[in-house]
Amino acid sequence: MYLASALLFLTSAFSSFVAALPSQLPLDAKLGHRVEDSKVNVSLYVMSRCRDARLCEDLFEDVFKTDDILQKVNLNMNYIGSINKAEPLGVSCKHGPLECLGNAHQLCAYHHLPLDQFWAFVQCQNFPSSYPKDIGDPSFDRQCIETIGEQWWESGVGECIEGKLQHNDTASSSFNGDGDREEESVGLGKEGRRLLRKNIRHTEGSGVTKSCTIEIESTLVSAGKRTCEVDAGVWRGCDDGHTAADLARVIEAEWQNLKSKENAEHAFRH
Ligand SMILES: *[C@@H]1O[C@H](CO)[C@@H](O)[C@H](O)[C@H]1NC(C)=O
Ligand SMILES: *[C@@H]1O[C@H](CO)[C@@H](O)[C@H](O)[C@H]1NC(C)=O
Repeated sequence: MYLASALLFLTSAFSSFVAALPSQLPLDAKLGHRVEDSKVNVSLYVMSRCRDARLCEDLFEDVFKTDDILQKVNLNMNYIGSINKAEPLGVSCKHGPLECLGNAHQLCAYHHLPLDQFWAFVQCQNFPSSYPKDIGDPSFDRQCIETIGEQWWESGVGECIEGKLQHNDTASSSFNGDGDREEESVGLGKEGRRLLRKNIRHTEGSGVTKSCTIEIESTLVSAGKRTCEVDAGVWRGCDDGHTAADLARVIEAEWQNLKSKENAEHAFRH
């Protein structure tokens, strides 16, 4: 009797554990994007061909160079656009179709690379003085992937961007139905299209429309987050300052607070 109820308990505990898994383990667990409770959630709302986004990303380049700040954040990239079924990619973007492609390409890198390498990729994309001329061009993506020491196909980024057909380079022999044919016609892999639509839908749901907007989730301020915006080069919000040192200080403080909460919970349990 005792054994039976113990087994029953174990079984139900296990199935609720399994049921809880999908929400607790985000999709990108294997890629170093695992959402860890003890890390500070930082969200950037950007557009790939927008100078203000580049300004924000330049700033974060300096933030991430500070000590080991990059290890202390979950970085969420939110691309701004609107769902539009009439468009070939299913979304429209402020700076045109090339920007939608650029957004998708960066999402492909985000999903297939560890965070530090994704960040190096974005820096490579933003680097040329001709910016944003090449954003959205797969051959430029490939150059950047190789510049940061990753491999185009092996990393998975190439197929996400260019699709299966390009990968095999033998279109006729590996032809795989309409999904693959569509990749060719829109110039973006199936995975890239899916990531783009999902991301844009999520951003639309958040209500944020300004590129660039920075949100730092907070357990220290009563609003629950700190918000900072740069529009046409002008900073707004940013109550804690908008230099790299300010942002690094805030992230460090939030991280310390999460750690001390975690330690307190740990002590309580034992
Ligand atoms: C960060 O965001 C994720 C996903 O929304 C959430 O599960 C997690 O609890 C957040 N972390 C913190 C420290 O708030
Ligand atoms: C390449 O084509 C073969 C069939 O010819 C297929 O089995 C394989 O999955 C394809 N590779 C990729 C990466 O699509």
